[in-house]
Amino acid sequence: MSALSDLADLLGPRLSTGASVRDQHGRNESHFPPALPDAVAFPESTEEVAAIVRACAADGTPVTVFGTGTSLEGQHLPVAGGISLDMSRMNRVLAVHGGDMDAVVQPGLTRTGLNDALRDSGLFFPVDPGADASLGGMAATRASGTTTVRYGTMRDNVMALEAVMADGSVIRTGSRARKSASGYDLTHLLVGSEGTLGIITELTLRLHPLPEAVAAATCRFPSVAEAVACVIEVMPAAIPMARIELVDEMMVRGFNLHAGAEMPEMPHLFLEFHGAPGAVADQAALFREIAEDHGVSGWQDATTTEARSALWRMRHNAHHATGALEPGKRTLATDVCVPISALAEAVADAQAGARDLGLTSAIVGHVGDGNFHCGVRLNPEDADEMERVAEFSRRLAETALRLGGTVTGEHGIGLGKRKYMRAEHGNALDWMRRLKAAYDPKGILNPGKLLPDAE
Ligand code: LAC
Ligand code: ZN
Repeated sequence: MSALSDLADLLGPRLSTGASVRDQHGRNESHFPPALPDAVAFPESTEEVAAIVRACAADGTPVTVFGTGTSLEGQHLPVAGGISLDMSRMNRVLAVHGGDMDAVVQPGLTRTGLNDALRDSGLFFPVDPGADASLGGMAATRASGTTTVRYGTMRDNVMALEAVMADGSVIRTGSRARKSASGYDLTHLLVGSEGTLGIITELTLRLHPLPEAVAAATCRFPSVAEAVACVIEVMPAAIPMARIELVDEMMVRGFNLHAGAEMPEMPHLFLEFHGAPGAVADQAALFREIAEDHGVSGWQDATTTEARSALWRMRHNAHHATGALEPGKRTLATDVCVPISALAEAVADAQAGARDLGLTSAIVGHVGDGNFHCGVRLNPEDADEMERVAEFSRRLAETALRLGGTVTGEHGIGLGKRKYMRAEHGNALDWMRRLKAAYDPKGILNPGKLLPDAE
């Protein structure tokens, strides 16, 4: 690859072919086998990213962007080799416009890095996928999480982008205006494109006022069906939930093993309310009134900041806590999203599927969005178990589509869900392929992701 020697000239020691650096960029937290890049580049500016892409375009070297490596569908894995573009050195806050409630940042900045910079501003950035992911990676995968029910996904919180395209040209999309009716919406074409159409080098993000009061609570239900029925009733009841998370019996067992939680092994909801102090109390009271009809018990308020942080820290470690269920195995961390009215059926089907197939699956869900995860334990060496896991995933995806939903509400397509793209999108997939061909005719940007191989 002549690109490699060009890049070595351009970047000096910021191009690494060392085994441990390559290994670190070729691993993942889910069940995918490692996939190592030929080299890892650490750019420090948009101009460098553009120069790297131009060199790679010249000889067809693949470029796969690396944020923090926390994606769960393998988006950052350089399955075709080539360059892993590590954005961690482009991690500055470029501007905070308090009055306009926006911030301009570089893609390698993490969400907690941004929130640290916003301390004392009275503003915060709400999108919270659990991991301390990079904002560029979050935009590229259209990330969401526990607060999405109130504040939206990355789609709702990215206002403008700068991106390097496959030929090395630099474009700006969107603006700092709150809305625009100007032209094709390339910002939201790039958001969720998983690095296959362009490389995000700068983001303008929407900020939100910190709520005056925050209250969190946990409670439990006699069955998952009752917990979900409660959610289905709460959502249209005009309670502006800030977080509403389902934790099933198996996940509770994981938290007990991993975090010493000592919770009864029953389905739980973890809740958070944001607003003025009086409003927060009213929201919680109205929630409890609805929950009473569904057999709620064991209500526990997490009133102090410390108690709230401990609660959400435990919840955010769900992926790792799943690992405590059958030590030594890997976890398939999958997700689907359905219309809220179909949530009970989808969750019941997922639990039945795991039971039928003899699999250990723990469920957590951003249920206010109709979105839930199954963490399925698996041993990649056990072909029979792998076949049952594949069958489980297939059933989960088919059920989500049958119920009017999507095969992923949060984690994206990456490697694992390409096989469902035709079923979900029909002939719209052909138009996605045309987009890819127009934006990246040489196929150098994150090859092997999002779009299935030619059928
Ligand atoms: C979560 C991640 C895995 O919700 O999406 O815990
Ligand atoms: Zn999630």
